[in-house]
Amino acid sequence: MENKPWTILRILNWTAEYLDQKGIESGRLNAERMLGHALGKRRLDLYLEYDCPLAPSDLTAYKSLLRKRTSGLPLQYVLGETEFFSLPFSVRPPVLIPRPETEMLVQAALDRLRGMEGPLWVADIGTGSGSISVALTAHLDAVTMVATDCSEEAIALAGENARRNGVSDRITFLRGDLLSPLESLSFVNGLNAILSNPPYVRTDEWDALPPEIRDHESRMALDGGPDGLLFYRRLAESVGQYLAPNGFLSVEVGDGQAEAVQEILRGEGGLSKIEIIEDLNGIARVVVASR
Ligand SMILES: C[S@@+](CC[C@H](N)C(=O)[O-])C[C@H]1O[C@@H](n2cnc3c(N)ncnc32)[C@H](O)[C@@H]1O
Repeated sequence: MENKPWTILRILNWTAEYLDQKGIESGRLNAERMLGHALGKRRLDLYLEYDCPLAPSDLTAYKSLLRKRTSGLPLQYVLGETEFFSLPFSVRPPVLIPRPETEMLVQAALDRLRGMEGPLWVADIGTGSGSISVALTAHLDAVTMVATDCSEEAIALAGENARRNGVSDRITFLRGDLLSPLESLSFVNGLNAILSNPPYVRTDEWDALPPEIRDHESRMALDGGPDGLLFYRRLAESVGQYLAPNGFLSVEVGDGQAEAVQEILRGEGGLSKIEIIEDLNGIARVVVASR
């Protein structure tokens, strides 16, 4: 990477080709995001200043990001942040990187909660980076949340993200197994909604996951047991005692799981008025069920 001066455009072009050769998808976008991060510039500024040579210290910082990316670390972990529901989130391994499809779960919850009288109490089970809780509280003042996760790293990161987005006074993060941290709180039949994006990958699918996921994101965040449905069954067993009479449970599901999850929520969960929400590709992504 030496010889001629490294201008912004030259390094973008070079990196895009290099990442493509390495089999990393969207090489140019990756290059833009990493260079923007190293230089503290927006994407547009990179192109407005395309002919600027990089200072040696910036080049060193950029090379360090590039090395991490080519080692297979997901871009979001390389940058240490991502966007979810148009809000900034810090991310670091092994806590799951928030996925765009989970924004549907947040939107569906917002749509329903906006029609209810406040104050509203909502639980987020398996909060990870805190994405669902933070996005929901940031968009709806009437909401106060309790969010759980069994992972210590997740609870710490979720708290950071709540502070980063100015909503930490309305979210309580508790470490523990699914809804059990709620036992000590007086939530019996008091929650307007329970939301969860639980682990739902089948155990036998683990080895076939892309290495970027398998090698860096926690198995605990993804493995949903032999049929991928373990956590829906466990949630179904306990949500009834926490939901308010008009409350609802809303869960994200994996491709092809919606029908089975619907049956679990109806059967073991005793829930009704089930609605399945599809994403833009026609894949059923969210199942909502009411008491
Ligand atoms: C698929 S990730 C979802 C993370 C986040 N809600 C999101 O949508 O980006 C599932 C989360 O559930 C947590 N988890 C797994 N088993 C759990 C359990 N028994 N009790 C509580 N949380 C659990 C994992 O640590 C992980 O953060």
